[in-house]
Amino acid sequence: MYVLALYGSPRKDGNTDILLNDFLKGITSSTPEAQIERVYIRDLSISPCSCQDDNICLKTGECFIKDEMTPLYDKLLRADIVVLSSPVFFASVPAQVKVIIDRCQALWSRKYILKNIPPALPGSRKGFFISVGGTTRLVSASAEREGKDIFSGIQTTMKYFFKSINVDYVSNLFYEKIDSKGAILKHPTATKDAFEAGRKIYIIPP
Ligand SMILES: Cc1cc2nc3c(=O)[nH]c(=O)nc-3n(C[C@H](O)[C@H](O)[C@H](O)COP(=O)(O)O)c2cc1C
Repeated sequence: MYVLALYGSPRKDGNTDILLNDFLKGITSSTPEAQIERVYIRDLSISPCSCQDDNICLKTGECFIKDEMTPLYDKLLRADIVVLSSPVFFASVPAQVKVIIDRCQALWSRKYILKNIPPALPGSRKGFFISVGGTTRLVSASAEREGKDIFSGIQTTMKYFFKSINVDYVSNLFYEKIDSKGAILKHPTATKDAFEAGRKIYIIPP
């Protein structure tokens, strides 16, 4: 059992780092044999997608750029669980995370154009997303319709990210009004929620 944990915040030991650590502790509590690989996106040097004319990856399924994204492709396709934590930045993910998502166009192409990624058995590969935002989440139906919910943009991006890497987006945790470093520790349930979500991830039905 291989878990790929992607830390998406540029802020070391910030709120989303804390929650992802708790999520992983939950996994270890229920599945001690799980092999967990932690990837701190802020430490990677990854260039943005920069195809100019012909999108070569649409023909080959490979990205022509060779950098610290290159070894991540296999890991993204191999993991049983891919868990990503990321703060909301301008209604989306931080640029460092978006660069990785955009570079997954090569995997999108393998899946949807070249059709050479075998379909995963339902529920056999799972994606989980953890996010926080500094402002207030507007939860009224009209706010949601108008896309005012602070997580609606980032959630849509995650949906397409997880599809492109061929995992089921099983669930997420979102916390509003969490801004200063470590503020999440004052939330009444967040760290416990993250631990519980990790503990149960292997048994969430597809
Ligand atoms: C560049 C930048 C953009 C941000 N944009 C938003 C935003 O659009 N909505 C929001 O609710 N919070 C926004 N925030 C606040 C962060 O989501 C918040 O500080 C969060 O707690 C950071 O999580 P971290 O400690 O894991 O980095 C922004 C913060 C920064 C630095």
